[in-house]
Amino acid sequence: MTTSADFGKTHSGITLSRYLKERSGSAQLPAPLLHLLAEVAHACKRISHAVNQGALAGVLGSAGSENVQGEVQKTLDILANDILIQAHEWGGHLAAMGSEEMDNILPIPKHYPQGNYLLMFDPLDGSSNIEVNVSIGTIFSVLQKTTSASTEVSVEDFLQAGSKQVAAGYCVYGPQTTLVLTLGQGVAMFTLDRDQGEFVLTQDQVQIPADTKEFAINMSNMRHWDAPVKRYVDECLQGKEGIRGKDFNMRWIASMVADVHRILMRGGIFMYPWDKREPGKPGKLRLMYEANPMSWLVEQAGGAATNGKQRILDIQPAHLHERVSVILGSKNEVERVTTYHTKA
Ligand code: AHG
Ligand code: MN
Ligand code: MN
Repeated sequence: MTTSADFGKTHSGITLSRYLKERSGSAQLPAPLLHLLAEVAHACKRISHAVNQGALAGVLGSAGSENVQGEVQKTLDILANDILIQAHEWGGHLAAMGSEEMDNILPIPKHYPQGNYLLMFDPLDGSSNIEVNVSIGTIFSVLQKTTSASTEVSVEDFLQAGSKQVAAGYCVYGPQTTLVLTLGQGVAMFTLDRDQGEFVLTQDQVQIPADTKEFAINMSNMRHWDAPVKRYVDECLQGKEGIRGKDFNMRWIASMVADVHRILMRGGIFMYPWDKREPGKPGKLRLMYEANPMSWLVEQAGGAATNGKQRILDIQPAHLHERVSVILGSKNEVERVTTYHTKA
């Protein structure tokens, strides 16, 4: 376990390539999955470079188009999506890809070698922060196609619960570029060393403290929340004088990658709950390429993730771009909010 007290200490020098090679051939990491993850890392390096260049490379601003969810696409949303597609389409490890920025799944073209993994991504998370030089990131989730190799890949192949993920993670482009990965045996963090051009292991077996005094939610939506979320946040705001008996701090970066990264580093609770603005939608965040990979990482670090009623990783998706209410982070806090929903 690494704690904040360990920051600044000498790192192991183990590169992501070596970390993956050491686990290669195990049940958790068959060779094709290793190569697939190396390609994800390569794509993230390219995206990191574009993000760092910003205005110098003319990559800021709107692309003048909308995605299937009706959100304005930024130039970097599309660039990051293209980089991920290029990195993966000819590698031979995938059957298909799915992305926040693509209406439908993208089967690997027939003239390229085929694999049996399915890759989902949010190419650029935190789009509203691109121009203002605040941390953004890429989120990814890997599933396996369970139908036979001869069966044409379809969207149904993707509609698996998050508990079926075989690898997941994100890369945060902040003061450092850090790739965070789980294969189901804990969470490891790799910082990009630009001198070597390699991701280097800087924290292993990350653990989220079970208790916290820090919450993350977009407070401007308070009037739209449901009673259990309002109750939880009200109790935090009462501080020492209230039933929690302690003062809470608040953070909201508006990039899920950056908010989740903070929680993995020092604990906390993150909520993007259902609210009354669009009552027909279960939430704002997307289940398959935002909530599922982040929930698995958080659970692997000893935290919890629910939609207020059930474990996110147990939700059976019905749609590729399905939305979900998200409550994740320090275990005891997530359990408290969930209890407010289920035992009200
Ligand atoms: P994306 O940029 O991929 O559309 O995701 C943005 C998400 C998430 O990163 C963040 O937590 C949330 O939207 C912020 O939403 P608000 O602007 O409503 O706070
Ligand atoms: Mn996102
Ligand atoms: Mn995005």
